[in-house]
Amino acid sequence: MIIKNGHVIDPGTGTDGIFDVLIKDGKIVNIGNVTDADEEVIDASGLYVLPGFVDMHVHFRDPGFEYKETVGTGSKAAARGGYTTVCTMPNTKPVMDCPSHLKLQLEKIKNEAVINVLPVGAVTMGQEGKELSDISGMKKLGICAISEDGKSVMDSGLYEKAMKIARLEGLPVLAHCEDKNLVAKGALNAGAVAARIGVPGITNSVEDIIAVRDVMLAKDTGAQLHLCHCSTEDSVRIVKEGKEAGVRLSAEVCPHHFTLTEDDIPGDDANFKMNPPLRKRRDVEALKKGLKDGIIEVISTDHAPHSAEEKAKGIAQAPFGIVGLETAFALSVTELLRGGVLTKAELVKCMSTNPARILGIEAGTLKEGAPADIAIVSFDESYIIDSKEFASKGKNTPFDGRKVYGKVKKTICGGRVVYSEGE
Ligand code: DOR
Ligand code: ZN
Ligand code: ZN
Repeated sequence: MIIKNGHVIDPGTGTDGIFDVLIKDGKIVNIGNVTDADEEVIDASGLYVLPGFVDMHVHFRDPGFEYKETVGTGSKAAARGGYTTVCTMPNTKPVMDCPSHLKLQLEKIKNEAVINVLPVGAVTMGQEGKELSDISGMKKLGICAISEDGKSVMDSGLYEKAMKIARLEGLPVLAHCEDKNLVAKGALNAGAVAARIGVPGITNSVEDIIAVRDVMLAKDTGAQLHLCHCSTEDSVRIVKEGKEAGVRLSAEVCPHHFTLTEDDIPGDDANFKMNPPLRKRRDVEALKKGLKDGIIEVISTDHAPHSAEEKAKGIAQAPFGIVGLETAFALSVTELLRGGVLTKAELVKCMSTNPARILGIEAGTLKEGAPADIAIVSFDESYIIDSKEFASKGKNTPFDGRKVYGKVKKTICGGRVVYSEGE
């Protein structure tokens, strides 16, 4: 296959210009001026050719909650969003806490996934925070990281043990920072909006206290720590200071947290309920500055599908989370590129190069010999988000009807076209 005349951007190799991409046996063979009469040609004139996106943080609900999402539907949603690799969080049923549970999931991935799906193992058995999971056993089967996502491990002694094992096993620790006792029954950011809607609030400290603790534990243990879904201004400062202190540390932000504030919540609509919650304008500005300054290096989605019935319960009762795979690129282009926060190459770094590097996986680059994982996109095309078009089972998005810029045209994974607009 040859992708012809596209503008190739690969921050990993410093490529930025119009080139052809030759793909053979699922790998990138050559980037340059290629003519080979025998090859299938994809015309990318007027479009950009990028390394396929890598999402460090998705929920595919499989096994256990297949009515919300499956490996099949989730991976198709990912492909539609330009993603060629995703990491699935372990809060499934059963929880991914031992090799036998992981085998169930790996079997589904083998049979259903259209892109690379890398499972994340839980930190504790059943995510109950009491007993460590079989981290080493799961590492042998191929988990890419450990995480207790959905909650924090509140027992610092237990978490320190997990971090020591993670360091020995070479696994990053993906941290959901939320003080369980402080959050109580909070549903939205603490303040006037939560008060108006009549639900308990979630203060910034709920996140910041655990973020500081986790950075300190990483400093003590030498573990590689990655802070998930940063939403507060102080979390950016915590990451900056941790990095300056030499901690092996990275952090992510989700499109909803840099696009919306609590003031965008129109009323009792649970599509605006996620964890951590939408914060204040000053938090959003700090997150954007964190991205611009390279303190926050990753954009991830926290793709969290739920059923329409669950989300219809209203903000107080509905589960936390929104879908994100099929809107992340456009929201990033709209808010960050057009908003003057990031350049195109910096955007690609945050969505592909950096997450691949942090995970230590062979992805996020178009160098010769690398797997042919590619997103072909337009940065200019605008459209209206319509959740009915999503490949995901989850339609729970606060962005329905929003005008955005940036469209994924084709996604190629391992040399195979896994998404093509309009097909
Ligand atoms: O909004 C969220 N949804 N945050 C989480 O931490 C968990 C996730 C889920 O699993 O639905
Ligand atoms: Zn989380
Ligand atoms: Zn999550």
